[in-house]
Amino acid sequence: MGEIVLVTGATCPTGEVVVQALSQRLGLTVRCLMRQSSRAPWLLATGVERLTGNLDTGDGVDAAMAGIDTVVHIAGIRFVRPVLRAMQASGVQRAVFVNTTGVFSRFKSASEVYRLLEGEMQDSLSSMDTDYVVIRPTMIFGNDRDRNVCKFFHHFQRHSLFPMFGDGTALIQPIYYRDVAAAILASYDALGTAKGFYNISGAAPVPYRQFIEEIAQLCGRRPVFLHLPVRLTAGAVEAVRKVYPRFPLKGEQIWRTTESRAFDHDAAARDLGFRPLSVPDGLRLEAAALGILHGGAQE
Ligand SMILES: NC(=O)c1ccc[n+]([C@@H]2O[C@H](COP(=O)([O-])OP(=O)(O)OC[C@H]3O[C@@H](n4cnc5c(N)ncnc54)[C@H](OP(=O)(O)O)[C@@H]3O)[C@@H](O)[C@H]2O)c1
Repeated sequence: MGEIVLVTGATCPTGEVVVQALSQRLGLTVRCLMRQSSRAPWLLATGVERLTGNLDTGDGVDAAMAGIDTVVHIAGIRFVRPVLRAMQASGVQRAVFVNTTGVFSRFKSASEVYRLLEGEMQDSLSSMDTDYVVIRPTMIFGNDRDRNVCKFFHHFQRHSLFPMFGDGTALIQPIYYRDVAAAILASYDALGTAKGFYNISGAAPVPYRQFIEEIAQLCGRRPVFLHLPVRLTAGAVEAVRKVYPRFPLKGEQIWRTTESRAFDHDAAARDLGFRPLSVPDGLRLEAAALGILHGGAQE
């Protein structure tokens, strides 16, 4: 009998690309663990198994793990505990996990949980003698569900004014979602030879200000930056939070926009053949996907 792979997070844009690709491989059975509420009409055409479960409660995870050879856990590192427990119970010895370069942030709200869970995961996988790869993407973008960059596109479709904390020189290196999917598939193929943790990012870093300018230009606008002093604005936000604790912005989030989020992917290039798109190329594809850019790059 061929190999059986369990995928979590099949309904996020990256997960969809991974599942579509795996489902076309001969001799491979793909099973997806999904919430009851998950919507994935495209899954029907792929012929993959769908099992209902919930990684928050752990419901259905053991049943989904039965008979599995390899786990591809895309749903998020915050759900890794039930996955590891079920892997141990079923004796699964091959796995690809997705974490985030947020583990390296000097701001605790961005890094603490990821660091803790990554440490637990490493201990657990070593004790199980598992073949594993953990990939850590930077910010993922490139589609209407990316929850990050598409908000900037929507903003510049209507406005030119943009608040900029500080001077906007901090480097960022976001990654196009199909490149994340390619890295997951390459990790899956490399299990047994590649092992450990790989940062993945766009082809080269860009200053945050330039990134915002590129998005505005794709929307046909010249951005007008409203420069806000970081310390003062972060302090004001924290003062507001004392009165309204549910205010949707934290001072730390403002400081975080001044932190470099550039990460090289040399190890992934060497071991996984990782060759990502440049950030401007990814942005053009996102603009096309959002129906903003006409006659530009197409997927
Ligand atoms: N977005 C980023 O910028 C970014 C950056 C670095 C790393 N990452 C990592 O990359 C991966 C993909 O990120 P994403 O932002 O594209 O994902 P996402 O949109 O947050 O999607 C999460 C996936 O997990 C599933 N899921 C959520 N709660 C679940 C639960 N309780 N039980 C079972 N499944 C559940 C969702 O399915 P349903 O909602 O359909 O149930 C969805 O398929 C994640 O591991 C994320 O941590 C993301």
